[in-house]
Amino acid sequence: MERHITLGEFIIQNQKDFPYAKGELSALLSSIRLAGKMVNQEINKAGLANIIGAAGEENVQGEAQQKLDVLANDMFISTLRKRGEICGLASEEMEDHIVFDDEIHSDSKYVVLIDPLDGSSNIDVNVSVGTIFSIYRRVTKEGEPVQLEDFLQPGNKQVAAGYLVYGTSTMLVYTTGNGVNAFTYDPGIGSFFLSHPNMRVSEKGKIYSINEGNYVHMPEGVKQYIKWCQELDPSTNRPLTSRYIGSLVADFHRNLLKGGIYIYPKGTKAPNGKLRLLYECNPMAYLIEQAGGKASDGHTRILDIEPKELHQRVPFFCGSPIMVEKAEEFLRRYPDQD
Ligand code: AHG
Ligand code: MN
Ligand code: MN
Repeated sequence: MERHITLGEFIIQNQKDFPYAKGELSALLSSIRLAGKMVNQEINKAGLANIIGAAGEENVQGEAQQKLDVLANDMFISTLRKRGEICGLASEEMEDHIVFDDEIHSDSKYVVLIDPLDGSSNIDVNVSVGTIFSIYRRVTKEGEPVQLEDFLQPGNKQVAAGYLVYGTSTMLVYTTGNGVNAFTYDPGIGSFFLSHPNMRVSEKGKIYSINEGNYVHMPEGVKQYIKWCQELDPSTNRPLTSRYIGSLVADFHRNLLKGGIYIYPKGTKAPNGKLRLLYECNPMAYLIEQAGGKASDGHTRILDIEPKELHQRVPFFCGSPIMVEKAEEFLRRYPDQD
């Protein structure tokens, strides 16, 4: 029987394509794999271990933190701290970045940004959640403590990005700028196996994913685009199908496999939308472009936005290229009234 390649084998085989610090980036991806396995273990027993429910604290954006948010955050930080590949980390769950400055990190070149647990409101109802990660090479001088500017780089400077989805099966999907590959976890063996090599998103797509409960708050262009998706026109395969889980990772993953658009627009209540540029949109934008798709804020390519602050939010339109272009066309046709 043919044996599938493991994630570890794949990382080593493909490190020749990494632009620099090959061994370190391979080791870093392996550390993320390890932390992901640990988080997966906790999520799988969430219902058993009495660890579901709010931790009683709010994160920097004032949202209730779930216990697993805290746990996932701690697991990623401690795993990455124990190994020497990165010199700093920023997380959606922490106000400021952290500096790794002990001996083993003294010549590390990379920084990581993470959303340790995405879709956390779905934990209590046994629906898929995920972890999103984004990796940059530091821009400040090696050997010195990392600075904020190492984290505030535009998405087009990412050297790798990906996510874990803890769903009906657990998968790790990532890119290092040479296509997108997905690995499915075999819990019996404890390894990820290559299950979806060189993923490509459909050009046209059929699914639109948006929280329509926010309809009254949406810009006119987005309202009109939703109406367009719902109209009857067999020549363009309309009406389209609506699917929305409420976990970005799970919604993105489904649309990557089946073809579709994910939208989190700005609204009268959220002037820049809800999703975070650095922890959520940049890594997903890098992945979708590597799979042949598009990601924008409705007007500008996500990967070209110059970040101003760690927890910056941005409207997000991401998925099959023809669908994203159509949505952008509606935004141009109905410019904001404000
Ligand atoms: P997080 O759990 O990391 O805070 O992210 C939640 C995000 C994202 O996963 C999801 O797509 C979006 O929030 C859903 O928001 P709405 O409930 O407003 O639709
Ligand atoms: Mn999130
Ligand atoms: Mn989160």
